[in-house]
Amino acid sequence: MSLSISKVLTMSPSDETVSVSGWVRTRRSSKNVSFVALNDGSTIRNLQLVIDVDKGYEGMNEEAMVKVTTGASLCASGKLVASQGSGQAVELLCEKISVEGVADPEEYPLQPKRHSLEFLREIGHLRFRTNVFGAILRVRHAMTFAIHKFFNDRGFFNIHSPIITGSDCEGAGEMFRVTTLPENNPPLLDDGKVDFSKDFFGKATNLTVSGQLEAELAAMALGKVYTFGPTFRAENSNTSRHLAEFWMIEPEVAFADLKDNMDLAEDFLKYLIGYALENCVDDMEFLSKRYAEEEKLKPQAEREEMTLLEKLEFVRNNSFERVTYTQAIDILMNSTPNKKKKFQYPVERWGIDLQSEHERYLVEKHFKKPVIVTDYPRENKAFYMRVNPDEKTVAAMDILVPGVGEIIGGSQREERYEILKERAAEFKIPEESIWWYLDIRKYGSVVHSGFGLGFERLLMFITGMSNVRDVSPFPRTPKSAEF
Ligand code: 4AD
Ligand code: MG
Repeated sequence: MSLSISKVLTMSPSDETVSVSGWVRTRRSSKNVSFVALNDGSTIRNLQLVIDVDKGYEGMNEEAMVKVTTGASLCASGKLVASQGSGQAVELLCEKISVEGVADPEEYPLQPKRHSLEFLREIGHLRFRTNVFGAILRVRHAMTFAIHKFFNDRGFFNIHSPIITGSDCEGAGEMFRVTTLPENNPPLLDDGKVDFSKDFFGKATNLTVSGQLEAELAAMALGKVYTFGPTFRAENSNTSRHLAEFWMIEPEVAFADLKDNMDLAEDFLKYLIGYALENCVDDMEFLSKRYAEEEKLKPQAEREEMTLLEKLEFVRNNSFERVTYTQAIDILMNSTPNKKKKFQYPVERWGIDLQSEHERYLVEKHFKKPVIVTDYPRENKAFYMRVNPDEKTVAAMDILVPGVGEIIGGSQREERYEILKERAAEFKIPEESIWWYLDIRKYGSVVHSGFGLGFERLLMFITGMSNVRDVSPFPRTPKSAEF
């Protein structure tokens, strides 16, 4: 079997034969010698192949060389030598090549030049082969691994919460229905509504928006748990931060209050940043350069002062700002853009929902660092959040970061049976859909807290990408489920 290019690039020149395989990124030729940049996905770096047809080695003739074009796949073997050119320490002096699959240069859409991210979304089946997606997907993998490691090292247990559910955790009603009832002529009740008792599960079911409610049940026995799975939201918001299918990490901790929850979330984000910086060096350097180029295209006033790597280092090394919703509203009401009527949604009174423009003002202009906003009005947040002693607010916390806005949403949970029951009624949540969630409060209920980190939002933050569609291998958004 061939060696990975990431491995080969760490090796020293030797007389041993080395075999590699991958896809041609570029080829340039002078006389009878061709220089091929080969990439196999194991690293952002390419291995330079030197192919001299005059040597008459196996597979190295004019006829075969015609097929060596950008996008073609090939296997090559030869000796690793010190590179003559700059940019790499070693290169492969080929003694054998075989083209496995051709890529007609007239048709192959990925030319060795910069393509726009929008164009790449249209060729989602091929964009994996670009430097930028390779880098993002390797970072995505590293983050997945780091998330499990973080929790495992701290004694958390991973819980697989269900994907099909009969309850609506966030109460926003933005769910995708799961049904096997016939499209035409479904069974109806007397009032003309669909009779879901005849459906597969004997009731109406949906794809889950969150694994939290189930994670809470597990935390009431295992103490510290987390979920990490796909979640689905049918919100018709075609923004650069929303997906209809995204992954969420949801830790839930028994005997932990809001402060413990904030501390855990802050440690967690800092750990993940550190992991990326230390373990994805080449990819992060590439992404930081890309980010700097994007920034250059912006008007001076809107440009980031720091590079991506500097920004991440800064976030990792400084404590997050912690403010209450009430303090945040004060800041926003007195802010210059509010006074100059620059916000699309003016901040006029306590009780409004913070819009993303407000969140970004707090983070990017006012505090210039991540901010944890706590204690939101009870009407604005989900039914499960613990009612504060003031009875007006709940023990919620949102973490906002520069460039992305909300990255984490969490809270201390309402552990008091009677109050939770009232809250569910306030939000018109049918008791029969969450009776078990209420019931758990009757038996050894404890103070507990948790949060949800949007995985793609985390990746936007770490990779500096500004559209969530570009950090997901297969983004699902309104009117778009290709590939
Ligand atoms: O704030 P949210 O809605 O919180 C919950 O779902 C809680 N049940 C979490 C918990 O306490 N266990 O979502 C959590 C995070 C958001 O902060 C955001 O990062 C991400 O999930 N998120 C989305 N990411 C991409 N596309 C969407 N449509 C998202 N909606 C939420
Ligand atoms: Mg939220």
